[in-house]
Amino acid sequence: MKLIVTGSFDESSRHVAARFAEVIREKPDALIGCATGSSTVGIYRHLAAQYEAGTLDFAKVRTVNVDEYMGIGPGHGQSFAHFMGEHFFTRVNLAPENCYLVDGAGDPAGETARFRAFLGGNRMDILMLGIGTNGHVGFNEPAPVFTAGAHVVALAEDTIRANSRFFQDESEVPRHAMTMGIGDIAKARRVCLIASGAAKADAVRRLFADDSIDPRLPCTILKACPDAEVVIDRELAQAAGLIQTQEESN
Ligand code: GLP
Repeated sequence: MKLIVTGSFDESSRHVAARFAEVIREKPDALIGCATGSSTVGIYRHLAAQYEAGTLDFAKVRTVNVDEYMGIGPGHGQSFAHFMGEHFFTRVNLAPENCYLVDGAGDPAGETARFRAFLGGNRMDILMLGIGTNGHVGFNEPAPVFTAGAHVVALAEDTIRANSRFFQDESEVPRHAMTMGIGDIAKARRVCLIASGAAKADAVRRLFADDSIDPRLPCTILKACPDAEVVIDRELAQAAGLIQTQEESN
């Protein structure tokens, strides 16, 4: 697991977008793992800019999303399906049939089986991740053990509180979500985790504190990934008390 410290959040976003672009140019039908949340908005903006400039083609690219709220459908303004439409799908030439999404309004058992079958037959070439304030990745919340495959999860109180900023009020935040499992994340060929902001400092500090892979801090699974980068800006690196091991500016 490599630490990349950049000069700003925008530089971090540009760095991750560049890694995705590299993979897509090498393999035009790459399967890319997509995350949502404020941390990922810049990545999609930079990818869309490359498409608009004619330097990146998504015609054959396949996507799969890491997670989705359960109990709200794709038409809901806070569903991750809606987020993807707004920030990515409508901005590049992805074919809708190449974009795998969990149906948050679907039957949880059926959706779990469908998601597990998809992930069982398709390995991600590159995956982007954000991180929860409690160290969750996707919606794999801190727990006594890891869950390997896709599953429905009851959201942690911290997560409900943190995500309530996107809803009118905390009571509207769905209590359940579907997420790919820790085993799915570990199998991705490359992983880029992007984080920014003081709220993530504690999770990032704990991630680099030692060599443990601990289900109580789910992001530590990145230590088992064949090619993982944690991309953070200098401000967060300082807040997390990390020594800058690498400087990157694109
Ligand atoms: C959400 C999502 C995660 C995301 C994280 C961070 O709960 N399930 O996939 O990485 O929170 O979100 P943000 O980037 O908005 O801080």
